[in-house]
Amino acid sequence: MKIISVVGARPQFIKAAIVSPLLRADNDEIIVHTGQHYDDNMSGMFFKQLAIPNPDYNLGISGGTHAEMTARMMTSLETVMIRERPDYLLLYGDTNSTLAAAITGAKLHIPIIHIEAGTRTHNLNNAEEINRICTDHVSSLLFACTENDMTEIEREGLLERAYLVGDVMYDAFLKFRGTLSVAEINALTIGNHKVRLPQEYYYLTCHREENAVTEKLREILCACEDLDSPVIYPVHPRNTKIVEALIEQEQFKNIIAIKPVGYFESICLTSNSRKVITDSGGVQREAFFAGKQCVTILDHVTWEATMVDNRNSLARAERNDILKKLSLTQNVDTLYLPFGNGQAAERIVRIINNLN
Ligand code: UD1
Ligand code: UDP
Repeated sequence: MKIISVVGARPQFIKAAIVSPLLRADNDEIIVHTGQHYDDNMSGMFFKQLAIPNPDYNLGISGGTHAEMTARMMTSLETVMIRERPDYLLLYGDTNSTLAAAITGAKLHIPIIHIEAGTRTHNLNNAEEINRICTDHVSSLLFACTENDMTEIEREGLLERAYLVGDVMYDAFLKFRGTLSVAEINALTIGNHKVRLPQEYYYLTCHREENAVTEKLREILCACEDLDSPVIYPVHPRNTKIVEALIEQEQFKNIIAIKPVGYFESICLTSNSRKVITDSGGVQREAFFAGKQCVTILDHVTWEATMVDNRNSLARAERNDILKKLSLTQNVDTLYLPFGNGQAAERIVRIINNLN
């Protein structure tokens, strides 16, 4: 079968790295990169590190308002889809690239396969929630990571199209977690920065649109400044200017702000941290996979399965609330494995191959 996989943002490259090699064994895959993420350390680095085949198309579309970005992607994606006439369209997650491809493909009557279906925050102020709902409802095949996601799918009347397969991010974590050791990260002096990795540190990532405002970032960094170990913070390009200005103005000393790191570095930094502070869906799950306590700076739960025994707690973007949630003690039940068994991609590809 001919399958177009559409990717555009960092977490989608990681998911494609796991699914694509299996898909290619029996299918003709065409990778379309929308261009949503374009800096080398947000895109090219992942293709190299994870040996993802070069995209067949790079549409070079990024930035602008949500509508501008989505509309420009739809126009270019339509041209590619009409030219290639695929049997299926394979989409990951909940970005604007996912939404643009879903709407375009559905109107061309191309059946859509959605990986990471059913995740819901029940908060329509969250752009990704809109992207997920729309994509799920125009897809023919839904692959869900957890039981919770299946419950949401059932509630929306989509159960007949859905399979519970587990999380390909868990597959990726299990496959690559040993690739880099802390010593190797230390030797790399973390990206371009000549800082040695401290023995003990917290790991911070933050990129959500809702947190990308000076007042919220100031509160988050104030909490980090008051922690008892340094905080390693690879800064998403969306926030570089604000974070640099805040560190300068407030003279923060406990925060080691660095450029975005590769996937191997990121899971190694998570796995060896004391605790994780994030607003990322992927990093919340990786903290959970690594048994590290996580504080999520959002006002909605995205990954319900992680919110047990203080393993992941929501905090407002307020210094005191973040510190309070970080002071909780987690309890890790090693038998609780809600994200599958590391073979989500195998299951997905087996089901796709049977569509033939
Ligand atoms: C996007 C996704 C989000 C996902 C995240 C993964 C949407 C609505 N959001 O958020 O769901 O969690 O990717 O990281 O699709 N920028 C650069 N260089 C880059 C990429 C981005 O400078 O390589 C800057 C641009 O100014 C851009 C801004 O970051 O306007 C935000 O990028 P965008 O792709 O719109 O959103 P993300 O926050 O990355
Ligand atoms: N990540 C990375 N480098 C970084 C920060 C994060 O490789 O500097 C990885 C992280 O380990 C996870 C993925 O990026 O695998 C999550 O992507 P992101 O936080 O951008 O998006 P989300 O998961 O929230 O959609």
